Amino acid sequence: MADIDWTRIVTAATRAPSIHNTQPWRFVAGPDRLDVFYDRERALPVLDPTHRQQVMSCGIAAAFAEVALLASGAAATTELLPDPADQDHLATLTVTGGAEADDRARALAAAIDERHTVRAAFEPRGVPAELLDRLQRAAERYGLWMKVVDREEEETATVFLLSQAEEMEQGDPAYVKELESWMRTDPGAVDGVPVEAVPEGDPHDRPSNWLVRDFVVGARVPRMFRAAGDPDAPPPDVERPTVVLLGTESDDRAAWLQAGQALGQVLLLATAEGLVASPLTQALDWPATRTRLRQRLSLIGHPQMLLRMGYPPAGLAPSVTGRRPVAEVLTTEG
Ligand SMILES: Cc1cc2nc3c(=O)[nH]c(=O)nc-3n(C[C@H](O)[C@H](O)[C@H](O)COP(=O)(O)O)c2cc1C
Repeated sequence: MADIDWTRIVTAATRAPSIHNTQPWRFVAGPDRLDVFYDRERALPVLDPTHRQQVMSCGIAAAFAEVALLASGAAATTELLPDPADQDHLATLTVTGGAEADDRARALAAAIDERHTVRAAFEPRGVPAELLDRLQRAAERYGLWMKVVDREEEETATVFLLSQAEEMEQGDPAYVKELESWMRTDPGAVDGVPVEAVPEGDPHDRPSNWLVRDFVVGARVPRMFRAAGDPDAPPPDVERPTVVLLGTESDDRAAWLQAGQALGQVLLLATAEGLVASPLTQALDWPATRTRLRQRLSLIGHPQMLLRMGYPPAGLAPSVTGRRPVAEVLTTEG
């Protein structure tokens, strides 16, 4: 087997989505292994004090690395938390030999660069049941459950908790300050969320039941002071995305990493099948709303990710968010 091009593999890994595009990872490559570490320097102490969402983000990066390795002709195994003395050593990928990349492996690897978080309204058609089954099976391979939130009372409860969490966040100056520190207006930014990647108007005004995270809190004219729209204009089509909830039995670092691995596979398979997605994690940010979601949906286990999925509107040019140069996150040994 030829030497592994770790720069290429880690470039693919860093295309992983991460909460607020914090990219909270470091990689160390040896001849036949890649170690993934959590980088505490990039923590979000207000939004993610337990590091759950950032560890999950690193799990996605590990999954993307494994997909990229397979497509390059190398089979690898991934061990989670390989060092009990260092909980920030999140994963070790060990190359076990050569592999014949099939069409499926190549399609998943191609999806790494095509995937972007899309917060725009989706086309009105839903995701076919057969594809949802395949996404569910992809998640189950990592021990996750995937639940489609489509019963009316479950949808109502989830939408309510999302709005409640969003309100709690907007009312928390520490949350707002942290969010603002990760917003980017410079088109060359290598991290953080670019303003072009988030909806321009107030998320409450989108024709959707599902409230996307508001990334420009505090800067809006309150709705009661805004001019009313044209009363004769026809109401816009209401978006009906497919919303799925991914969860785990336990709620520790290993479970968060598995959630990341599963989410990585689900996102790549979805992208390869022409879907786009955006996480809606506000209700999972806060212990109170997360617990309430468990109760209201009678969940067994712990919700880790709420994902809005659908087909992109025609002509959509997704916003590409920046990444730090690989040299900044990869150390090569041996
Ligand atoms: C664990 C996790 C939680 C996220 N939560 C949200 C969210 O609540 N709302 C949102 O719009 N995007 C959310 N995102 C998407 C990130 O903002 C996005 O991945 C990042 O800005 C990079 O952009 P990209 O996915 O287009 O590469 C989340 C991503 C991850 C991995």
